[in-house]
Amino acid sequence: MQNLVTYTSTLDGVTPANLQGFFVGWPHPPAPVDHLRILVGSHAVELALGPDGMVVGFITAISDGVCSAYIALLEVLPPYQGRGIGSELVRRMLARLANLYMVDLLCDPELQPFYERLGMRPASGMLLRNYARQSCAP
Ligand SMILES: CC(C)(COP(=O)(O)OP(=O)(O)OC[C@H]1O[C@@H](n2cnc3c(N)ncnc32)[C@H](O)[C@@H]1OP(=O)(O)O)[C@@H](O)C(=O)NCCC(=O)NCCS
Repeated sequence: MQNLVTYTSTLDGVTPANLQGFFVGWPHPPAPVDHLRILVGSHAVELALGPDGMVVGFITAISDGVCSAYIALLEVLPPYQGRGIGSELVRRMLARLANLYMVDLLCDPELQPFYERLGMRPASGMLLRNYARQSCAP
């Protein structure tokens, strides 16, 4: 399926209708319209598109554009996982951010080998989650 997937750095033509099925396992997932707001508000996005133009994977980064960036979200739709799409999205995003000093992200320990293969290294971090805001609705 990977060879039927194309990649893009723009949101041209992407509507909420193209953003279906993401945030798997989130009790209160963002609606597609809010998913699009997330993409629009990001410093950089990379999308994987299926043959029908639907988004099948995405990665976002927020950044000051000067020194540091944070990779906030990465997800590939379950039927498309395990085919190299997530790796390609990370590679493309790291290339976009190559002029910056710091590129950070948080992940569960079991995903650290995935990011290590892509050139990142483990670190410790801190976080805060406001679960009442998980849907990211206005
Ligand atoms: C993580 C994710 C983006 C990877 O996308 P992908 O297209 O499947 O990635 P690739 O095909 O390039 O690489 C697959 C490899 O990722 C690793 N991987 C993926 N999910 C993993 C998990 N939950 N635990 C451990 N390793 C995992 C495995 O090494 C896997 O190799 P395998 O297919 O041989 O088992 C995808 O699994 C996903 O969307 N997961 C749910 C959301 C998520 O966890 N996002 C990351 C937040 S930090």
